[in-house]
Formats: sequence, structure tokens, C-alpha cells
Amino acid sequence: MDEQLIQTINKLQDALAPLGAGSASPVDLPQITVVGSQSSGKSSVLENIVGREFLPRGTGIVTRRPLILQLINKRSSKATKDLVHIKETDANGDKTENNADEWGEFLHLPGKKIYDFDEIRKEIVRETEAKTGKNAGISSAPINLRIYSPHVLTLTLVDLPGLTKVPVGDQPRDIEKQIRDMLLKFISKPNAIILAVNAANQDLANSDGLKLAREVDPEGVRTIGVLTKVDLMDDGTDVIDILAGRVIPLRAGYVPVINRGQKDIENHKTIRAALSDEKKFFEGHPSYSSKATYCGTPYLAKKLNAILLNHIRATLPDIKMRIEMALKKYQQELASLGPEMIESPSSVVLSVITDFCNDYTGILDGQVKDVAANEL
Ligand code: GDP
Ligand code: NA
Ligand code: MG
Repeated sequence: MDEQLIQTINKLQDALAPLGAGSASPVDLPQITVVGSQSSGKSSVLENIVGREFLPRGTGIVTRRPLILQLINKRSSKATKDLVHIKETDANGDKTENNADEWGEFLHLPGKKIYDFDEIRKEIVRETEAKTGKNAGISSAPINLRIYSPHVLTLTLVDLPGLTKVPVGDQPRDIEKQIRDMLLKFISKPNAIILAVNAANQDLANSDGLKLAREVDPEGVRTIGVLTKVDLMDDGTDVIDILAGRVIPLRAGYVPVINRGQKDIENHKTIRAALSDEKKFFEGHPSYSSKATYCGTPYLAKKLNAILLNHIRATLPDIKMRIEMALKKYQQELASLGPEMIESPSSVVLSVITDFCNDYTGILDGQVKDVAANEL
């Protein structure tokens, strides 16, 4: 997705926000949600999509409350790149860079801007423990985090606890049902894009994430299969049969990815280095080298962009209707103010909105055609 479209959508969201007082954002973009077993790599996948390191990840039950992550586009003079994008960390790449134009804010810490993404992660851990204790407890009370950045599209991602069967620590006996119900609440929303995450070294037929996704999206129109840990598969095995749709077919298909392993995290391996290694792996592997462009995190981001565009196209008629209704309302208000008001600032605003909407539809029409030709 190109810069122009991101900026247009973000402008439209800004411009129309006051019109939709009380209602949802006029451009109601999908929420990207993850489902899968514990430690299948859900948080790692989300983090790679955002391109920043700030989610707690690890071998036990790390994600124990839903995290509702709102990315908010905050324009800066710098050019905006892909909306769901792979942001590279700094060139010498020791750790995450901390820019003055990117920060996080938690709903439970109003007014506090956190510029250090390590600090954001620590706060997620603290706030998780505040509600659930340290002993593997789970809570359906979400943590709300907003990330402001010039490099993102205003969009919501939801990180969720993994499906689990056997209670551990302080978990209640019906933990399996509790988590299922929690996940269903999020993925049932018609505008939820479901990333069904399954580790490639686990049997797909037993994938709990995929089963749950099929319950709410039987046609597979909003489910993308994500196969993690391809690097950990036994020698001589691969995911080719899954990719070819010979195991459990999904309309939007599967994307194999390689995230950072536990050692990589401990050694502060950068996202840039991880992406470069991921690319090398797929390009150099006898099973994947011929289809390497359809493998890896950048391709997953591309697929998500395509789904976003299709979604925007589908909601365009509704957006147009809302704009027309708002225009009508303002025109009536203007008329009631009398002829001397016609050249008032409000009418200038009106024509700006009208021009803007025309641009917006034009761009989308072009974009959507491009995507339809190439993707999905
Ligand atoms: P979640 O519980 O599903 O959110 O999974 P996490 O993202 O917390 O990852 C669980 C563990 O698996 C972490 O130690 C990750 O480093 C590791 N991991 C995730 N994806 C991969 C992968 O593709 N390859 C390898 N080697 N390790 C991974
Ligand atoms: Na985990
Ligand atoms: Mg997690």
C-alpha cells in the first residue's frame, strides 16, 4: 500500500472524526487479532508486523490479558511508508531506537507518554501482574495501549492469550473454556482479521487456533494461516503440503515465517537482523527457494495490506453515505443562518471535505484495482 493512500485514509479519519461524534470512526478499519496455542509465536508475529519491539514474549504463558493495541498515525514531516510495515531498527542495530516522534500511552496511565519501548513492555508486564498475579493467572480485562507514530496506519491489533488445556499455577479448572470464550469475543467481530498462528513443528490437524477461527469464519474469508518456527522443523520436513492447500485449505492461504527464538531475544537480536536471516533461510532452503517471495514476514504484511484494502473498498458505500448525510446536515444549518453566512468559513470547510472525498474515492478505486490484480 503506498504512502498516498495511508495519508488519505488518515486524513479522512481525522477530518470526519468530529462528524461521527459517539459513533465509530468513519473509516472503520479491521482489527487484526491472533489465535493459536500457547507459545506458538502470536506475540512475536504481531511485533514483527508493527516493526517495533515492545511485547512481552517468551516460553511460558506470557500474554495473560488481552492487549488492545491502537496504532495511531501522528503525522510528521518525514515520509510515511507502508501502513502495516516492517520498520527497520537503526543501522548499527544494537537495540531498539527511541524516536521523539513515536510513543506509547496506556489507558490506565492517562497523560503519560512513554518514549522508551522497553519501558512499554515492562509496563505491560507490570499491569498484567497487577490483575492476574505472577502465577499464570489469566484475566479477560484488556490492557489498552496506544502507539503514536508517523509510520503506522490508524489501526487496531489485538494480542491475546494462547489456547491452553491443562491448568497450571493459579489458573482455574475451567481455564480452557475461559480462554476460548475470551478469544471468541474478539474474533467473532465481522471486521476482525484472524491470524491463525500455528507452529510449523506442531501438527496442523490439531491446531486449536485454526479450529476456533473456522467456528467464526467457516468460509475462511478473514482468516490467514501463519506458520511459525519453520526453522525448528526436523531436517527433511517442510510445510509445502500446507502451503499448497493439501492439508487444511484456507482461502487466503498460509504464510510461513521465522520469528526470533528465545536465544535471539535474550541476545537482543534486532528486527532488521531477524528479517534478513528469515529471507536468507527461505531463499536458501531447497523446499522454499522457488517460492521465497510467498514466504516470510514481509509477504504476510503485504497480504494484510491487501485484505485491508478490500475491506475499505467494501465499506466505501457506507462511508460515502455518512459523508453525504453530514454534508446535507451542514448545508441545512448554513441555509438556516441566512445568505450572509454562505461565504463563511464553514462553507470553505464543506468544499474541502467534498474535494477530499472525491480524491479519496479516486485513489481507492485505483488502488483496489491494483491489488485485485496482484493479490489474494
Ligand atoms: P505466544 O505465546 O504465542 O505469544 O508466543 P511468543 O511470541 O511469546 O513466542 C513463544 C516463544 O517461541 C518465544 O521464546 C519465541 O522466541 C519463540 N518463537 C516464536 N516464533 C519463533 C520462530 O519462528 N522460530 C523460533 N526459533 N522461535 C520462535
Ligand atoms: Na508465550
Ligand atoms: Mg503472547
